[in-house]
Amino acid sequence: MIDVMKMFKARMYMKRNEPFLYSWHAYVGYELDLFRAFERPMAKTDVADAYGLDANLLEQWVAVGVSIGHLKEAGRGRHKLANAWKLPKPKGDNSSGVLLKEMMELHIPTLLHYPEMMRNGERLHFDEEKHAGTVAETSRLLEVLAMPKMSKRIRENNVQSVLDIGCGEAGYIKKLAGRFPDAQFTGIEISKEVTVKAQQLTADNNNITVENADLWEYNPDQPFDMVMMNNVLHYIDLEKREALIFELASWVSPGGILSIVTPIAGSSDDPPFANVFNSFFSSFDNLYRLPTREELREWGSGAGLDMLGIHTVIKEGGWYIAQYRKPE
Ligand SMILES: C[S@@+](CC[C@H](N)C(=O)[O-])C[C@H]1O[C@@H](n2cnc3c(N)ncnc32)[C@H](O)[C@@H]1O
Repeated sequence: MIDVMKMFKARMYMKRNEPFLYSWHAYVGYELDLFRAFERPMAKTDVADAYGLDANLLEQWVAVGVSIGHLKEAGRGRHKLANAWKLPKPKGDNSSGVLLKEMMELHIPTLLHYPEMMRNGERLHFDEEKHAGTVAETSRLLEVLAMPKMSKRIRENNVQSVLDIGCGEAGYIKKLAGRFPDAQFTGIEISKEVTVKAQQLTADNNNITVENADLWEYNPDQPFDMVMMNNVLHYIDLEKREALIFELASWVSPGGILSIVTPIAGSSDDPPFANVFNSFFSSFDNLYRLPTREELREWGSGAGLDMLGIHTVIKEGGWYIAQYRKPE
């Protein structure tokens, strides 16, 4: 009886872990640009030669691809993509593959450190320079969903100037600047490398300025009609958050808007990913747990702002946009 249970559980763990194979396979294909290589029927050895890859490992990757339906045989020993719509687009151009890259290179390895961290009471250190590019790119995937809520406030409040704190690759201000050509947009970003990328991506927009600056040292010359801070709160020490919101409120002109995109700490009935976020952030000595809904409300009222609402951006990840208005 006990042996039967053991077998049953072992099979269940394997079955439950099967989705990992799809993610792993897609991640490797994205990272090495292999889905482009197999767009048309190709021999594995030719791809290995052309891309300078280990032929043996490529062969194994192709075999898994066939078994999970990412690839199919295409005659004369060649292979090509199957179900291409399920696979990530090549790198760049806001491909969803960057989310796989972040999960595989950052989230999963971090979570695997749990036993060791729990035993020793130690934390990892988040290497900002190493991950800044990937993290800025994954955050951009949310843009399309959060954008309408930002545009609405800009239109309603006749916003003429916008500050984006920790703007990453400036995806938000670039989209908004196209939609509101008469408004001025400023982004600040602490990573030099990401700032340069943002400046390149916005070079054609004459209503955008991106500066390499730390928000703690930034002192705006004049208030902005809208201040936004998207996906940055978890970089901020818990003790400093209330004071930061207070400070940001002073950068907003009377009648203006403060807009914050952030995941919110999950409760047990939220989707699992919203809950595991905090396990991830808590693994680092320089990242911090997510805010709660109550905190977002309290900090706003403490800073003299009226809460406009906390709206869902993406339910699966527990992502929200909190918006406040500064009284006239
Ligand atoms: C997760 S990314 C979000 C990027 C962008 N706001 C978005 O939502 O697409 C967070 C960004 O904040 C930047 N950042 C972190 N701490 C900062 C600080 N003290 N001052 C300015 N930028 C900061 C990081 O370098 C990173 O590019």
